[in-house]
Amino acid sequence: MKIISTISEMQNASQEARMAGLRIAVVPTMGCLHEGHISLIEKAKQLANFVIVTIFVNPTQFGENEDFSTYPRTFDRDCQICKDLTVDVIFAPQDNEMYHSDASTWVEEIQLSENLCGKTRKGHFRGVTTVVAKLFNATMPHKAIFGQKDAQQALIIKRMIRDLNFPVEMIIAPTIRENDGLAMSSRNKYLSEKERKTAPIINQLLIEIEEKLLNEQAISVESLKEYFTSSITAVGGKVDYIEIVDANNLKNITDKQLDDITNTEILIATAVYMNTTRLIDNQLILHNDVS
Ligand code: PAF
Repeated sequence: MKIISTISEMQNASQEARMAGLRIAVVPTMGCLHEGHISLIEKAKQLANFVIVTIFVNPTQFGENEDFSTYPRTFDRDCQICKDLTVDVIFAPQDNEMYHSDASTWVEEIQLSENLCGKTRKGHFRGVTTVVAKLFNATMPHKAIFGQKDAQQALIIKRMIRDLNFPVEMIIAPTIRENDGLAMSSRNKYLSEKERKTAPIINQLLIEIEEKLLNEQAISVESLKEYFTSSITAVGGKVDYIEIVDANNLKNITDKQLDDITNTEILIATAVYMNTTRLIDNQLILHNDVS
């Protein structure tokens, strides 16, 4: 396994792999790899024969008061995990390799980025799309694997690929959960013992809301949101947002649409603070598919 830190070396390695007829899959990460990332890497291994994992804690997607400086960095451990999974290349550039000090070009998606996390994390998705575009240009993949846990991010990147004609096929892999249902996340590391015990309630409530949506008549979006918020507040959490949206355009679902949801793919998406730790999760309702 090669560890590459410059863009030119990465591009050369990908060029060579392409010349040798290999299919390249990239798994973009910010490191601190867990079972969720491992499942993405395993998926990449099934779909391609040259697998690149990128490890870069991207400063441009963190807001001023967010956790960029404290974001967990476990590079040696990450390398060992990738080696064990027979990853071909880790691309791990430094900040100044990825961003010139006078960088002034952004990639920005302006519709899907408005709702959900975009409301409280201004500029976050602009940082994500910019860095993912740069990572695509550095790694030149045929396929890119992202997790469903970051549902909004996945949809925005899919839109970017379409709108900017990136020759990359995007694959969205299912959310991997702890045994008690908590979605795997590098930020779970921040939780105290007590918060960790409470956090699975997020997933439980999302499933309850899904069941109510599918089985109960005459329910309102507002009542479901209130139920979620009061249940989270009761266990000491704070809801950043809870929304029920159309899974294809992230627009809020109306009560009228709830009367017949058989033709609408629905995403129930939330961000919840457990003390200072912000956790996101979602539940996708696809009517003819398995979510
Ligand atoms: O999902 C993440 O870890 C990041 O947002 C990504 C896609 C690697 C971009 O920095």
